[in-house]
Amino acid sequence: MDITMKKIKLGSSDLEIPAIAVGCMRMNSLELSEAEVFVKEVVDMGAAYFDHADIYGGGKCEEIFGSLLHRNPGLREKMILQSKAGIVPGIMYDNSKDYLVKAVDGILKRLQTDYLDVFLIHRPDALADMEETADALETLYQSGKVRFFGVSNYRTGQIRLLSKYLVHRIMVNQLQLSLTNSTMIQSGMEANMLTDGAVDRDGEVLDYCRMNDITIQTWSPFQFGAIAGTFLGNPDFPELNQELDHLAKKYHTSDTAIAAAWILRHPADMQLIAGSMKVSRLREICDAVHITLTRQEWYRLYLAAGHILP
Ligand SMILES: NC(=O)c1ccc[n+]([C@@H]2O[C@H](COP(=O)([O-])OP(=O)(O)OC[C@H]3O[C@@H](n4cnc5c(N)ncnc54)[C@H](OP(=O)(O)O)[C@@H]3O)[C@@H](O)[C@H]2O)c1
Repeated sequence: MDITMKKIKLGSSDLEIPAIAVGCMRMNSLELSEAEVFVKEVVDMGAAYFDHADIYGGGKCEEIFGSLLHRNPGLREKMILQSKAGIVPGIMYDNSKDYLVKAVDGILKRLQTDYLDVFLIHRPDALADMEETADALETLYQSGKVRFFGVSNYRTGQIRLLSKYLVHRIMVNQLQLSLTNSTMIQSGMEANMLTDGAVDRDGEVLDYCRMNDITIQTWSPFQFGAIAGTFLGNPDFPELNQELDHLAKKYHTSDTAIAAAWILRHPADMQLIAGSMKVSRLREICDAVHITLTRQEWYRLYLAAGHILP
């Protein structure tokens, strides 16, 4: 099915990437044969940008993906493959050189590939010597194991500090963003107020990434809280769902596509990382690339999600 996927640029590079990508955090819910069908369909849909992390399913998600790549020679070259490391399962974060370089070797082994298109540091490590972290990334580049770099859940100061030592540019910052979790947008809307939304939680990360051509990848785009469940069709969000349903009817699409269109409508050219492992759901989500919400619709959704405008 050709859905004429919207393309954006990966950060400041010339690499064209789909505006909707697939996160593989939940891939361990699939059997290998199911994952194989799913990935091939995603490639056909034009959303062939896959996001992994070494910790997803304790490594099982990457293993399943690696097995299906092994079974399908030629599939690897049809996709952009990204993974992350830096969270040590259990209690700590580690951005040291030794840890990151070894972690990438583990990722490549599980994914059964020689290189990652994009590697992200999953979370900042309070004890990281950023010069050493940068050295890890340069080493990975020199060895041909990684083409592009990014971070996830980083504040702007941390990106600046890492960039001070890096030859290569940071292309991505992967952050949580959905209609209900939109602190990076709220802080800009509620500037100079005493409201909770006025709090700058992330160092003006939205403006910073736009100024520096860093692609924001939005994780958990349909979840509320810290991955507490979806707000779609959820009776705890009556006004939001009423507005989503109204627009879904208007655009002859699903509430899911409208929630995705809300993210894609932002001029920052973000990349939405969808986490569903269902082809039918992903098709619904990809329909969002055909919808351009009006300014009024975008703001009505924002308000219906419970945010305020001064
Ligand atoms: N960098 C980080 O710290 C971080 C953290 C978390 C996640 N991530 C990345 O972000 C990706 C996406 O995260 P996520 O899986 O939480 O994202 P999501 O797309 O917001 O959530 C997907 C989940 O919501 C369910 N869902 C139920 N109703 C839905 C609807 N109407 N529309 C869409 N989904 C619905 C899906 O179930 P169905 O199977 O029924 O579709 C699926 O289990 C992950 O795979 C991972 O790659 C990164």
